[in-house]
Amino acid sequence: MEKMPYRDELQQAVVLSTTETVVTSDWQQGLPTLRGSQVLLRELRASDAASLFALLTTEEVSRFISPPPSTVEGFERFIAWTSRQRAAGTYACFAVTVAGFDTAIGIFQVRSTEPGFATAEWGFAIGSDFWGTGVFQDGAALVLDFAFDTIGVHRLEARAAVRNGRGNSALQKMGAVQECRLRNSFLKNGEYIDQVLYALLDTDWRGSRSPITASSARVH
Ligand SMILES: CC(C)(COP(=O)(O)OP(=O)(O)OC[C@H]1O[C@@H](n2cnc3c(N)ncnc32)[C@H](O)[C@@H]1OP(=O)(O)O)[C@@H](O)C(=O)NCCC(=O)NCCS
Repeated sequence: MEKMPYRDELQQAVVLSTTETVVTSDWQQGLPTLRGSQVLLRELRASDAASLFALLTTEEVSRFISPPPSTVEGFERFIAWTSRQRAAGTYACFAVTVAGFDTAIGIFQVRSTEPGFATAEWGFAIGSDFWGTGVFQDGAALVLDFAFDTIGVHRLEARAAVRNGRGNSALQKMGAVQECRLRNSFLKNGEYIDQVLYALLDTDWRGSRSPITASSARVH
């Protein structure tokens, strides 16, 4: 997900027709805390705004994603928005913390792209001090388990700018399959750039789960 879905203009109420499937699950009341070997993923809190602002607004992190909020207050509004979307059952955003520390150093997002959450899109951004440390892969495995096993996603898509070598490799490492090139699909700094569309199916993920990943435990 190159595009952080939160925008001020997206804050209108969503009216669902009575024929649409609405996903109802405990995670809508509050996200579970997910523990990996290196990371702990938890619900975002307003107090995460300062660290997320500091770590996710750097040039190297934001180079290939849509502009993150430009102030700490903007991140606070984003965090409040994530909570409302989670309660509505359309979106989940986890704070990434390193085991033993409570500071949010990144986020993983999953959003429904159709009623019922069968098809969804995920995205992620982690502070660059933590790149190449295994934090991404550990957290991504937890989020994939959550998406497929808890939410019930069938097909999980992601978009990565073609020039985002790190983002493309990260998705491929998790088993995401490159499906097509989306020409001029993303406006960045006044220029339309191409993206790659990736997808991971629930069957792909279940077939590839390693014993290490499967042993990751849910805290509550
Ligand atoms: C995407 C992100 C979360 C991945 O986390 P990370 O810690 O960098 O990921 P990893 O190091 O586990 O994996 C990245 C892989 O890309 C490889 N890589 C690094 N630079 C690369 C490049 N220019 N081209 C191709 N691959 C590259 C790394 O070697 C690594 O592979 P390896 O583990 O097999 O060696 C992180 O880079 C990030 O936050 N980027 C900015 C936000 C972003 O672009 N998000 C959208 C992604 S679609």
